[in-house]
Amino acid sequence: MKLANKVAVITGAGPGGGIGSTIAKAFLQEGANVSLNYLARNSEEKEKFQTEMEPFGDKVMITEGDISKEETTNKLISNTIGEYGKIDILVNSAGISTPTLIHEMDLRTWNRMIEVNLTSVFLTTRLVVPYMIKNKFGRIINISSQVAQKGSVEHSHYAAAKAGVIGFTKSVALELGNYGITANCIAPGPIETQLMNEVSETWKDNKKNELVIPRFGKVEEVAPTAVFLASDPDGNLYTGQTLGPNCGDVMF
Ligand SMILES: NC(=O)c1ccc[n+]([C@@H]2O[C@H](COP(=O)([O-])OP(=O)(O)OC[C@H]3O[C@@H](n4cnc5c(N)ncnc54)[C@H](O)[C@@H]3O)[C@@H](O)[C@H]2O)c1
Repeated sequence: MKLANKVAVITGAGPGGGIGSTIAKAFLQEGANVSLNYLARNSEEKEKFQTEMEPFGDKVMITEGDISKEETTNKLISNTIGEYGKIDILVNSAGISTPTLIHEMDLRTWNRMIEVNLTSVFLTTRLVVPYMIKNKFGRIINISSQVAQKGSVEHSHYAAAKAGVIGFTKSVALELGNYGITANCIAPGPIETQLMNEVSETWKDNKKNELVIPRFGKVEEVAPTAVFLASDPDGNLYTGQTLGPNCGDVMF
């Protein structure tokens, strides 16, 4: 049990088996308590997910809502502290994909991307850090993307937000190293999730041709990197880094 008695806040951990919820399941298997956030598409989905999580009992709590809004992040963090009394790990995995060419993109589409994929990371991080400083331990793991590192057609806003996440993470790592807190990014390549339903078949075909390992990844192939970064001592010496489960799409 690599995460026994740890408390993790994970955003973007809703139904549908995405990266966030797979990380949540991996953390549970390693003994953590998890406090989840996601944005429900409707009330039916909200009830169904609540029922799906019931077998985990008090190891799981859910705060549904738009993570780009302060009222949601305030609620998420105060609910977590109220229930578990501390926060050891933060995983920011909430994200949207709205492929649009730059000359067809309106300001609303741009702003929404920045709010959900970047501002939310700021909002959660600034709230959890005081609790991590108090305990002299913290692991911040932000889900960026290989698109941040190499760009992608129809993804200028997504790339900007995800590159922002990498710069933000490095700065936070510099500020917090003295307190036993690490901050790292995971920048996956294309992974088979609902998010990929948003991109066109042409985009997918072109992307497959770019990959050194010529296939899209599975969520189970991303979650272990989060467990690794969150674990003591496994992840202890990693901070300000961007790890890339990306099928060789980006090489450093
Ligand atoms: N799937 C990929 O190919 C891929 C590649 C690189 C990075 N990523 C990133 O991984 C993260 C997870 O994506 P995924 O592939 O699991 O997709 P997904 O669609 O399965 O999961 C996205 C999650 O974010 C939540 N979400 C969306 N908007 C939200 C909001 N405003 N407030 C709160 N929650 C919100 C959804 O409810 C869902 O739980 C995203 O940040 C995404 O950008 C995905």
